[in-house]
Amino acid sequence: MTDSTWKPKRVSATAPDVSPDIPLVEVSVRSPKCKGDLEGIIGSISGVKLKVSQGGQPPAIIILELDDNPEQTCRVIREMGKVAKSAEIFLTSATLDSGVLLECMRAGAKEFLAQPIQKNEVEGAFERFLERFHAAMKPDEKVAAGQVFGFFGGKGGVGTTSIAVNLAAALVNLPSKPSVVLVDVNQHGGDLPLYLDLQPSHSFRDIASDLSRLDQAFLVRILTSYDNGLKVLASGYDDLSTGRLNADCVEATLKLFQSSFDYIILDCGHVLDLTTKKALEMSSLIFVTSTLMVPVVHRTKRILELLRGSGFPPNKIRLIMNRYLSMEQDVLKETEEILKQKTHWMFPNDYPSVSQSVNSGKPVIDVAARTAIAKSYKDFAQSFAASDQPSSVKGGIASWLNPFKSRSPQSSSAEA
Ligand SMILES: Nc1ncnc2c1ncn2[C@@H]1O[C@H](COP(=O)(O)OP(=O)(O)OP(=O)(O)O)[C@@H](O)[C@H]1O
Ligand SMILES: [Mg+2]
Repeated sequence: MTDSTWKPKRVSATAPDVSPDIPLVEVSVRSPKCKGDLEGIIGSISGVKLKVSQGGQPPAIIILELDDNPEQTCRVIREMGKVAKSAEIFLTSATLDSGVLLECMRAGAKEFLAQPIQKNEVEGAFERFLERFHAAMKPDEKVAAGQVFGFFGGKGGVGTTSIAVNLAAALVNLPSKPSVVLVDVNQHGGDLPLYLDLQPSHSFRDIASDLSRLDQAFLVRILTSYDNGLKVLASGYDDLSTGRLNADCVEATLKLFQSSFDYIILDCGHVLDLTTKKALEMSSLIFVTSTLMVPVVHRTKRILELLRGSGFPPNKIRLIMNRYLSMEQDVLKETEEILKQKTHWMFPNDYPSVSQSVNSGKPVIDVAARTAIAKSYKDFAQSFAASDQPSSVKGGIASWLNPFKSRSPQSSSAEA
């Protein structure tokens, strides 16, 4: 908290790979010989490039190897079709069963490369791909990085997780059906999956165990699905478990998410450690959650000062007031003066609805759809919809850098 030397690094939307005219190829293949052969051949094909970094432009081709369990591969291919919408899947395998191959093609695989890898087969597959790619590509089409919204609690228990979960659930219901991933970056008590009654079999721990394995295909395998296509990545860490979630792991994962999801919603908990700092650095917007309780306001003030003092642009920091009662108007005004920050959004106090939601593991917009708080979550999601266009034709880098240019907050337009 008192780390005055912490200065956020600006995270650029243009990562090293970005060059929308040259399609990138991700080789997500386990066997080293096959991977080496493919990379050698692809490196010599003009018009495509091997993907080297995790962020930036998403791959246009993902080469997957058939699992021992082909059903699992088909599932991954289907998921990739939803998450990495603009990528073509190529499949490689040492065995060739026509039934399995047909299933994989039905799931969405575009080409099959038999092992041992033959140069002319790979070249033929890429030639066909390039024809499809150039025929489909519109001249001004660019892929914008997904928006990362970091939610950080002014204090424990103020409602940070509830807000992150309900925003994510409301975002997937927007008419444009954006792709949304909800990420638990809270390593001190990561309990986010409980709010959606999920029991994830994977978490950040799987990524941390070998960061070099991280690519689009791996990420798709470890995400947990909720209704409507909402994806969840659990933290897997808490104060009682061994190990720590590290900043490199968070950075690499979020970069990858940015290249395939429209919205990345982070529950950053309320402890400002190195990992959280990294997540906040990478956020397009930081939402600091407070309530009007004195100890919460006291700590929120310190957090806001720390964020401002660390070089975050003021328009990136947004104050959320949770559990607000309409009779508290004067207290709110006074609090905004103390915090030197106007409230961006207020969520009403509705303990019965929120606890019913938490205890049933379903979002408020589903269990108490007609309440004012459900409407507030929906309106909050809707407030981002102005820049919300279908994934592959979003407004490019400029809109990512300033997504809220023409948008006014719920309660006041005079952000401090
Ligand atoms: N708008 C609201 N009205 C009433 N109660 C709320 C509201 N939002 C959250 N709560 C209640 O506050 C409690 C804490 O919520 P939540 O777990 O989301 O907070 P948190 O900040 O994530 O906590 P932690 O610091 O433990 O991670 C829950 O019991 C929840 O029901
Ligand atoms: Mg929480």
